[in-house]
Amino acid sequence: MHIFTTVLSGEIDQILDITRSHQDILLATDANVSALPQVRQLIEQLSANCERLTLIDDLPAEPREADVLQLIRQLPQTISCVVGIGGGSVLDVSKLIAVFAKTQDSARVEQFTRLLAGEKPLERSALVLIPTTAGTGAEATPNAIVAIPDKATKVGIIAPILLPDYVLLAPALTTSMPAHITASTSVDALCHLIECFTASVSNPVGDNYAMIGMQKFFTHIEQVITSPDDLGVRLNLLWASYFGGASIFHAGTHLVHALSYPLGGKYRIPHGLANSLLLVPCMKFICDPCQEKLAQVYALLPDADPALTVGQKAHALIDYLESMVNQLGLPTRLKDIGIESAQLPELARNAMAVTRLINNSPVPITEQQVLAIYHSIYE
Ligand SMILES: NC(=O)c1ccc[n+]([C@@H]2O[C@H](COP(=O)([O-])OP(=O)(O)OC[C@H]3O[C@@H](n4cnc5c(N)ncnc54)[C@H](O)[C@@H]3O)[C@@H](O)[C@H]2O)c1
Ligand SMILES: [Fe+2]
Repeated sequence: MHIFTTVLSGEIDQILDITRSHQDILLATDANVSALPQVRQLIEQLSANCERLTLIDDLPAEPREADVLQLIRQLPQTISCVVGIGGGSVLDVSKLIAVFAKTQDSARVEQFTRLLAGEKPLERSALVLIPTTAGTGAEATPNAIVAIPDKATKVGIIAPILLPDYVLLAPALTTSMPAHITASTSVDALCHLIECFTASVSNPVGDNYAMIGMQKFFTHIEQVITSPDDLGVRLNLLWASYFGGASIFHAGTHLVHALSYPLGGKYRIPHGLANSLLLVPCMKFICDPCQEKLAQVYALLPDADPALTVGQKAHALIDYLESMVNQLGLPTRLKDIGIESAQLPELARNAMAVTRLINNSPVPITEQQVLAIYHSIYE
C-alpha cells in the first residue's frame, strides 16, 4: 500500500477545493483551535458546501485510550472525509477517526482494542491534516499515539494508511500559540530531527529530511520567539516540523522519546515539554559514539565555527542545545513539573519497556543508565 500525500502551504481556504467532492465531512479539532477566527470561518464555509458537517471541537490534549473510546460513541456512521485541525493530539485522533469511518459503528470499539494490540488498519476515509503546532510532524508520520495511563506509557498505532491524502501548512494558524507552547512544540520537532539523524536505524533518506528540517529549525528558532507574528518564520518552523515527521517515517526516534513516553503516558506531562527536559541529557549520553553526526548537526548552526575538531563540534552542539532550552524558558528539572524522586525507578522501568524506540538508540542503554538520566535532571 502506498499513500501519496500532497503537501500544500498557505491559506486555510484551500481546503474548500480539496473537500468539494465530499458530502459527509467530519471536522475534528479542540477548544483552543476551534476558537480561532479562521477556523470558525472554515467551519461555516464547509457547512455551506457539503450535506453534513459533523463538528467535534472538544478533543483533549495528549489523548488517552479512554478519550478515544468515549469519542467512538459520538461518531456518525457515515463519514467520507475527515479534516483534522490542531496539534499532534488532534491530528492523531483524526487519523483514527478516518479508520473508524470504514467500520460499522458497533464494531469500532473492538477494532480500537485490536489496533492498540498491534493490528494494522488497512482502510480509511479521505483524510486532510492541518497542523497548528510546529510541532509533532504527525501530519507526515504513519503514527497515532495514544496514552495508556494504566500501563504508565503511550502506544503508537503505526500503519502506512495513517498518512493523510492532503497536508496544509497554514502559518497563520500557528501564530496564536502561547509562547510556551511554541517553545515546547518546537523542541519536539528538533528532537524528531536529531534523534532520527542519530538513530541506529538512520539512513540516507531520513538523514536528508532531517538535515533540511534542522537547517530550517536552527535558522528560525530565535525569530519565532522574538517575532511570533512573522508568517515566513512560522512557515519555516512548520516545514521543520513536517521534515521531522518525514524523518520519523523513514528512520525513528530513540532515547528522548522513549524516556518521555512514561512522563506523558502516566503523568500527562505535555509531549514537547517532556522532550525538552530530556533532549540535553540524552544527547550527552550518545555524544561520544555519535560525534561525527552531531558535528554535522553543529555545522548547521548559524554561527558554527568550522575550525573546531569533530569532538569539539559535538560538544559545542550540546552546549548550544542547553542554552537554547534555557533561552526558550522551558523547565529543565523534573522536580519543577511535579515528579517526585520516588517515581524515578518506575519511570526507568517503563522507559525500558518502550522497546520500539529503545532499540533505535545508537548506543545500548541499561535500566540503570536510564535511571541515571532521570536523576541527572531531577533537581
Ligand atoms: N503522530 C506522531 O507522529 C506524533 C509525534 C509526536 C507526538 N505526537 C503526539 O502529539 C501530541 C502532542 O501534540 P502537540 O505537541 O502538537 O500538542 P497538542 O496538540 O496536545 O496541543 C497542546 C496545546 O496547545 C493548544 N494549541 C494547539 N495549537 C494551537 C494554536 N495554534 N493556538 C493556540 N493553542 C493551540 C492545544 O489546544 C493544546 O491545549 C501527544 O499526544 C504526542 O504523543 C504524535
Ligand atoms: Fe515527538
